[in-house]
Amino acid sequence: MSRSARAVAHSNIALAKYWGKADVERNLPAVPSLSLTLDALSTTTSVELDAALESDEAQLDDHAVAGRPLARIIQLLDRVRARAGLETRARVVSHNDFPTAAGLASSASGFAALALAATRAAGLETAPEEVSALARASSASAARSVYGGFASLGAGAEAAERVASPDHFPLAMLVAVTATGPKAVGSTDGMQHTAGTSPYYAAWVEHAPQLYDEVRRAVLARDLEALGAAAEQSALMMHACMLAARPAVVYFSPVTLSVMERVRALRQSGTSAFYTMDAGPHVKVLTALGAATSVAAALFDVPGVGRVIRCAPGPDAHLVDVEGAAP
Ligand code: PMV
Repeated sequence: MSRSARAVAHSNIALAKYWGKADVERNLPAVPSLSLTLDALSTTTSVELDAALESDEAQLDDHAVAGRPLARIIQLLDRVRARAGLETRARVVSHNDFPTAAGLASSASGFAALALAATRAAGLETAPEEVSALARASSASAARSVYGGFASLGAGAEAAERVASPDHFPLAMLVAVTATGPKAVGSTDGMQHTAGTSPYYAAWVEHAPQLYDEVRRAVLARDLEALGAAAEQSALMMHACMLAARPAVVYFSPVTLSVMERVRALRQSGTSAFYTMDAGPHVKVLTALGAATSVAAALFDVPGVGRVIRCAPGPDAHLVDVEGAAP
């Protein structure tokens, strides 16, 4: 007896950043965040519950997953099984349509796709907020990838919420890939280390909600200038807080700084473009959809930029197919 479900979820980039946990055990965020879901970066995951399996197994881009990444997948599957009253083990097969090894955020789309596929394979008709809460328990940013367009996750919140649909604001997000190879410090370790040692962490937690409000208002008002200014400050404040940790958590590379400089130069010459950086060296540049081609060319021209991935607001996480009888 087996039953499987396949789901697609898109990655998201926070315009108001999440960094730090209010509750480490339950993985609840310390600050509110708001993100844009991206159409060009997605993960497709199938979960097959198979009575013949003795343990859970997982593959990502044709390689077996082991160690801590596998343990995180099993933790999510266990939550789903507990809810559905099942014991059956699962075979998880996942593909990213972007290079995981380049250190681009894959946990957001990955855990959102896994949460949706696992609940449906288990025969649960969970509402989007429950899928979001399941994804959030594994990776808080994944809670936001359940929704397309713009999504928010409140401080201490269990699940993300939709802020605006993908067609609300015609934006482009250009991902300037500045390096290859996985990131040096994972987000969970980076956050814990920052919270424990950075004297700026308390200031970050105090000021982040204000920036979140600004970002939210600017998204709703479709105001690119206000959105870009608040998003840049949110990213820089988060990184400043990490830089003040002991030892410092530094995700920037020399190419990161060169791309930031290029974005500032574009602005000086009258193009509305704004940068944001996450737990890696890549730079994501927000601009109007109509300016995307020329801004992408300017970013690709920066020495060290290997690739520019052009994204527009993406859709909700969705099911592709379900096979087999309900368990
Ligand atoms: O949810 P995690 O553990 O992947 O952390 C995400 C942290 C940032 O990407 C840096 C910010 C964010 O809000 O996505």
